[in-house]
Amino acid sequence: MKAWGGRFKGKTEPLMERFSASIGFDWALYEYDIEGSKAHAEMLHKIGILDEKEREIIINALEEVKREIQEGEFVFSNALEDIHMHIEARLIDKAGEIGKKLHTGRSRNDQVALDMRMYLKKELGEIRDLLRNVLHSFITRAEKEKETIMPGYTHMQRAQITTFAHHLLAYYQMLKRDLERLIQIWKTVDVLPLGSGAIAGSTIPLDREFVRERLNFSSISENSMDTIADRDFVLESIYSIAMIMIHLSRLAEDLIIFSTDEFAFVSLPDELCTGSSLMPHKKNPDSLELIRGKTSRVIGDLFSIFSLLKGLPLTYNRDLQEDKEPLFHAISTVKDVLSIVELCIKGMSVNREKMKEAVYESFMPAVEMAEYLTLKGIPFRQAHVIVGKLVRDCEDKGKQLRNLKLEDLRTYSEAFDKDIIAHIDPLTILRNRKTMGAASFEEVERQIVAERHYLNS
Ligand code: ARG
Repeated sequence: MKAWGGRFKGKTEPLMERFSASIGFDWALYEYDIEGSKAHAEMLHKIGILDEKEREIIINALEEVKREIQEGEFVFSNALEDIHMHIEARLIDKAGEIGKKLHTGRSRNDQVALDMRMYLKKELGEIRDLLRNVLHSFITRAEKEKETIMPGYTHMQRAQITTFAHHLLAYYQMLKRDLERLIQIWKTVDVLPLGSGAIAGSTIPLDREFVRERLNFSSISENSMDTIADRDFVLESIYSIAMIMIHLSRLAEDLIIFSTDEFAFVSLPDELCTGSSLMPHKKNPDSLELIRGKTSRVIGDLFSIFSLLKGLPLTYNRDLQEDKEPLFHAISTVKDVLSIVELCIKGMSVNREKMKEAVYESFMPAVEMAEYLTLKGIPFRQAHVIVGKLVRDCEDKGKQLRNLKLEDLRTYSEAFDKDIIAHIDPLTILRNRKTMGAASFEEVERQIVAERHYLNS
């Protein structure tokens, strides 16, 4: 008989059983469900609903159920819908009438909110650790590439000289914000929902503070209806994951481009690439392409939850069961992706010569040439026009800025002096940049030192 069998005359249609079952995916919550049930049983003992013996029987039976699930002995069935009913039914198999006391003052509505929060605390913690490892790998790599000069791009056109370290540290900063966001969201998840009942609490004097302490939550939810109705904590968790994925998808895109023969700035580790079934020469960056591809599915997970919540009346509605698959998918994806990215950052090789060549073959020092004139008192807009003309003439004649003689330069502006040649040397540029956060050797060094300290604190 179903838990609600007393109220029903007819049997449930088998199609409906399959349609409504969530056991196919929510079995993954079993450990939390059992931990929560044990805490609830202890609390029921404390307030006198269970005597010592009953408490012990229930706790032992729950432990046995856990072992059965861990060892693959447990039989799941759609008829029992979800993990909560499976565990309770098995408990009653084992503990008989005593097992029927466990659900006192509890509903699957506050139980599922509890399981999800406990699950998320653990998973977000694991994602945080993986993200930290990735951040470490960026700093280690940036340290090695401090002197590696390369073009920085806007519109995919060479824009200003930078270093590969500065480029990597840009991603580091994005991912560091993601880490901080994850830590904040973890705190909003860390609120005990159990004790809210189905919607409105209970006339049984449940000791929520006891359960909070026992299950290691920082605080207790304030409003029983909010507690069981909202899944903002699921949405925020997926949002924080989607943001990580978006940042890593951009990184993947950069590395895919940089690893083409046309750029040849980096070469990806063989372990993360695949070959072609037909073309013997191919080495494809599939891991990075999949990061890009999987990001779209995680964005889909985020939008599933947005639309799941938007029209729901208070409080619990069965729609909420649909929160799990997107969440589980987003979590398992980001964990794999973070591990892949760490391997990639550690294992890729960098072609410093190619990057340097791309700098020397470019007109990027035009920016510093215009700045030079500005420092000599020429209004910037005018300096821009002078150097613009110079670049155009160089292009027409197939010359580089650095090949120009001082006399040539002075035909464009009297302000050019012999120090201009040194001023537009790429290494001088990276030494001379003055602004905080700039692509300069000094600022990159400062970032590396500061971020090492951040990661180790
Ligand atoms: N499997 C349900 C879910 O994931 C658990 C709560 C069911 N509650 C209910 N009243 N049907 O949301």
